[in-house]
Amino acid sequence: MSGDVQRGRWRWLEDGSPFALRLALAACTACTALLVSACMGGDAAESPADSKVAACRAKAGQDEQLACFTALYEVTPLETPPAVSDALFTAGQDLFTSTKLSGTGNASCNSCHANNNAGVESRSAEGLVRPLHISLRGGAPDDPANTASLHRNANDLVNKLLGNPRSMFWDGRVALEDGGGYTTPAGAKLPGGLDSLLAAQALFPLLAREEMLGFAIGSNGGKSENTSANVADPVEADPQPVWDAAMQRVMADPVLSAKLAAAFPALAPASLGIQHVANALAGFQTRRWNAASFVSGFHGWLRDRSRWPISEAALRGGLLFFDKAGCARCHSGPRLTDWKFHNLAVPQIGPGFGTGANETPKSDKGRYEVTRQDADLYAFVTPSLWEVRATAPYFHNGVYDSLEKTVRHHLDATTYAQSFRCASDAPLVQPGIQVACRDSLGAAAFYADMTKRVAEEMKTPIALSDSEVADLVAFLNQLANGSNNTP
Ligand code: HEC
Ligand code: HEC
Repeated sequence: MSGDVQRGRWRWLEDGSPFALRLALAACTACTALLVSACMGGDAAESPADSKVAACRAKAGQDEQLACFTALYEVTPLETPPAVSDALFTAGQDLFTSTKLSGTGNASCNSCHANNNAGVESRSAEGLVRPLHISLRGGAPDDPANTASLHRNANDLVNKLLGNPRSMFWDGRVALEDGGGYTTPAGAKLPGGLDSLLAAQALFPLLAREEMLGFAIGSNGGKSENTSANVADPVEADPQPVWDAAMQRVMADPVLSAKLAAAFPALAPASLGIQHVANALAGFQTRRWNAASFVSGFHGWLRDRSRWPISEAALRGGLLFFDKAGCARCHSGPRLTDWKFHNLAVPQIGPGFGTGANETPKSDKGRYEVTRQDADLYAFVTPSLWEVRATAPYFHNGVYDSLEKTVRHHLDATTYAQSFRCASDAPLVQPGIQVACRDSLGAAAFYADMTKRVAEEMKTPIALSDSEVADLVAFLNQLANGSNNTP
């Protein structure tokens, strides 16, 4: 099999793909063995030098080859997450499932991030994965008549503080600053005393009208309206009144306030603020969802491959991931992400942002919504892939229901985007959920622009056989814990 992989790989290099060109041009003499990242400016490993790739291919046996590639792309076992006290964990758990944090009084974090496998809803009562969650714009989350959807697919909550995270959200609008502070939509209004990036993130669903806040009285046809939402837009510009109101509701609840006080025994209850709620939410998520202890699948293999081997198919798939299929160019490092933003020309479903003629059709421009730089148009952060088998539907808007389709899209993004058809290729856009969908028949100019700007790495299609795609999916399925350790 190693011969097959190598032959395939060389064919691909002979295609003259940009990756191959970059490799050939990587005359980076400062690179000594394993110092790939220093050479690339300290980022998680990018295209390693040709000679290192060749050295990995030359190793005897697939196990050795895969071990060499994981070292090259700095894919190491996850570190142990920061310790979380029992009191902080239980306070966070109660807050996570409490509707008291929402202005409408009917939504909790748990409404969209199920307290199960990976912190995502994944399957609805009908057994279908949902592309985009219900928005409060259409009324109560549990009202069957509510067909309005959010803009984006809810992220999973696995390992959020492991592997040096740099940002949160698909567009990275909550980010870590070099000095240790946070860049967020609240600017200078962000409270101090936040423990982590994850705690900073937790403050923002509270401000989102369509997620937890709801709408000012008289502004949304009577749906999800409430007095604590009587604040000016953008809410992030003056968030304190919303956080104060949420804090008041928490402290008025005897169970929540007692648990929060117990989580911060050194503080007088009167000095507890929304930052402590955020720290508790982050503490809960950190301890509840982490893959660091996994001793099966690929994580077990990374820790000790003689003790926890992976299947033949997953081994083959792993080699494809790091080599021929080029996945590790972006999915690298311990969290299998480079923390960068790339345009994968993902078909546009969901309401999109923007108004006015220039914004027609409405679309989700991803990182551009934060930076307003053309280079960031339609770019979204590379997601971690740990537990990916449990986080369907995939991509920033949940357009695909299976790993296979998601992988195939990567292999030929432009063709996939252009030939995507709302009528036949969006089975998740169910009647009753009413998710806006635009394909290249209805929005040709938009698709032309999005595909023209597709990430450099996506420009040259990568040809894989059906069995290679199956191997790649087998590998992805092993980025998980639990008994389902077979392909
Ligand atoms: C109405 C649904 C909804 C609710 C309620 C909700 N979220 Fe989310 N969450 C989302 C969506 C959608 C995203 C992605 C949004 C984006 O990227 O713009 C997200 C993103 C996140 C992320 C970012 C993860 C990452 O990898 O970047 C975290 C963490 C998170 N939510 C935690 C929470 C917490 C904690 C709460 C409660 C305070 C909460 N969410 C409430 C839908 C929801
Ligand atoms: C150019 C960088 C890049 C390369 C190369 C790349 N990916 Fe991705 N991947 C991304 C980005 C960015 C996203 C999210 C895109 C979006 O949602 O708009 C993503 C999303 C995914 C997802 C969906 C995860 C989720 O939670 O929704 C999977 C699975 C995935 N990639 C696997 C792969 C595999 C397998 C390969 C190799 C065939 C690969 N990727 C190559 C950047 C990359």
